Amino acid sequence: MYASVIRPERYGRPVDAFRTEVVDVPTPGRGQVLINVMAAGVNYNNVWAALGDPLDVVAARRKRGAVEDFHIGGSDASGIVWAVGEDVRGVAVGDEVVVLGVMWDESAEDIRLGADPCTSSSQTVYGYEENYGSFAQFTVVDAYQCHPKPARLSWAEAACYMATGATAYRQLFGWHPHTVRPGDPVLIWGGAGGLGCMAIQLVRQAGGIPVAVVSSDERGEYCVRLGAKGYVNRNDFDHWGRLPDTADDRAMARWLAGARAFGRAFWEVLGERRAPKVVLEHSGAATVPTSMYLCDSAGMVVICGGTTGYNGDVDLRFLWMRQKRLQGSHVASAREAREVTTLIGQGLVDPCLSLTLGFEDIGTAHQLMHDNEHPAGNMAVLVNAPAQPGAGAQPRTTEVLRPTGS
Ligand SMILES: NC(=O)c1ccc[n+]([C@@H]2O[C@H](COP(=O)([O-])OP(=O)(O)OC[C@H]3O[C@@H](n4cnc5c(N)ncnc54)[C@H](OP(=O)(O)O)[C@@H]3O)[C@@H](O)[C@H]2O)c1
Repeated sequence: MYASVIRPERYGRPVDAFRTEVVDVPTPGRGQVLINVMAAGVNYNNVWAALGDPLDVVAARRKRGAVEDFHIGGSDASGIVWAVGEDVRGVAVGDEVVVLGVMWDESAEDIRLGADPCTSSSQTVYGYEENYGSFAQFTVVDAYQCHPKPARLSWAEAACYMATGATAYRQLFGWHPHTVRPGDPVLIWGGAGGLGCMAIQLVRQAGGIPVAVVSSDERGEYCVRLGAKGYVNRNDFDHWGRLPDTADDRAMARWLAGARAFGRAFWEVLGERRAPKVVLEHSGAATVPTSMYLCDSAGMVVICGGTTGYNGDVDLRFLWMRQKRLQGSHVASAREAREVTTLIGQGLVDPCLSLTLGFEDIGTAHQLMHDNEHPAGNMAVLVNAPAQPGAGAQPRTTEVLRPTGS
């Protein structure tokens, strides 16, 4: 099959790291299915995979016993089930599916003892920590990763939303009692990004009040069209980065002035002096100090990434005196994936497909993301799906492969 492959000797700029190669089609094992990939979503995790940093994904897998010296990324897929392994129930050859990019060992002890599988010590990310992701004509996934493709979506739309949508859904509704409720103000970093565009709509669905943070008015207007009450342009402030030493009064006073000004901008957008009940974080080191400061008393900062760095400095006084919660959140459960897919299938949430590229543009798509130059929303690449007339993007093959007998 054709696959867009990353090799350790090409780690570096995403545009150079991916290259189309011909590799063997993987075989589905027990409980697994082989999917003929129609389209694949583009996510930040394969920016990290291409850089080889913070994780050398190939070396990490080889340490676990894998023999392959390459990485096929892609954590979001839409496609058609081509073959099923032993003991697969609920998914059949010919089914049109979307994939949740999380894997776990269903027989792991913590799962057998009742843990949410996506918190299991056996949990890994498909198409990142695991090989044979969706940037190839075929991919192998565990059967429980498959969800019915919403019929109203194109292949590209179906491929673009799961990793961001399900992750945002868990962040907003998965951490009881800090779930978004009607009337709750919610601050959303990167409102026009993949997580952000889904979060804005999900908060609206729950009756909350989403306020986006962006780096341009154009992105801000996009967020407002999606349902944000308004936006704050982060370029109007300059207190970003790590928190100063809290013993340095002058530096702390300067930092606090910046954080307070940002807070006033939030109030202005909201139209009232209330703090965000939930802050949806993923930008990391540059923004966590502000998130922790601004979050309401007894509110929650929920974080799933660290795009700008992993040092999340917290002035502990804000944490304990105001009894706030700093919650890590990673990927999503099968239930959360199904629920966000249902909202999208019903047309209540848009998958926000902004750009569909061809198979040969996988490196370019990740470079755009790395440089924060991608358009607002989610991106997808065509693999076996035919291009929409006039859309420009080219699939890997011009013919749609169908499983025999479907
Ligand atoms: N753990 C998980 O399960 C999971 C799942 C999905 C994503 N993630 C992580 O979450 C992060 C974002 O993913 P995404 O798909 O939403 O990416 P994305 O589409 O690139 O959006 C990220 C947004 O962050 C904003 N941003 C960039 N630099 C920033 C800075 N210095 N300060 C504040 N905001 C900044 C950008 O918006 P503006 O420039 O307009 O502000 C950008 O639109 C990545 O690190 C990814 O790995 C984790």
